Amino acid sequence: MLDLFADTPPWQEPLGPGATILRRRALAEADALLSGIASVSAQSPFRQMVTPGGYTMSVAMTNCGTVGWTTDMHGYLYAGVDPHTGQHWPPMPPAFLPFAQACAREAGYDHFQPDACLINRYAPGAKLSLHQDKDEKALREPIVSVSLGLPAVFQFGGLKRNDPLQRVLLEHGDVVVWGGESRLYYHGIQPLKEGHHPVTGAFRYNLTFRHT
Ligand code: SIN
Ligand code: FE2
Repeated sequence: MLDLFADTPPWQEPLGPGATILRRRALAEADALLSGIASVSAQSPFRQMVTPGGYTMSVAMTNCGTVGWTTDMHGYLYAGVDPHTGQHWPPMPPAFLPFAQACAREAGYDHFQPDACLINRYAPGAKLSLHQDKDEKALREPIVSVSLGLPAVFQFGGLKRNDPLQRVLLEHGDVVVWGGESRLYYHGIQPLKEGHHPVTGAFRYNLTFRHT
């Protein structure tokens, strides 16, 4: 039978074991998520963090939630206080938690309770080198990653750094959820191409919800 809804947003694409792309899942919530990002970054501004090795990251970051991901001279850590402002990270805006939980549930992860949301801002040229998200203690919980604005090429590999990479274009409103067997898979973002997005201008924003 002809499925009239097959290409109607949102739709799901399998990415790997325990990993799913919810295409355009955030379209309806995009305005609320972007105004949430604006209010968080008014309190805890975007900044380019410096890695323990002394390298300034090209992606600008801030956080909301009870803890936030940050760096110091010794390593990467979750902290309750934004080292830049000396204040607690802003709480998650009201739209964030229910949206992240709904996405997790649709990808097969019930009862997701994220306490941190890292907010990444990519300008043209910004990239995120291949890495594992391994600073969380709750490795049974998924990562819920929301893409807004300019498109970017997401690399998704395997447990070893040199495993073959899938490359998928993530567009405005796409959500990737990975957990279970793929929770520690290497992933990254290729350098952002120049562009103009009607909603976010010259930027791509990414939210990653984590249970730390
Ligand atoms: C991340 O790996 O933390 C972010 C990925 C993305 O920007 O899509
Ligand atoms: Fe990551």
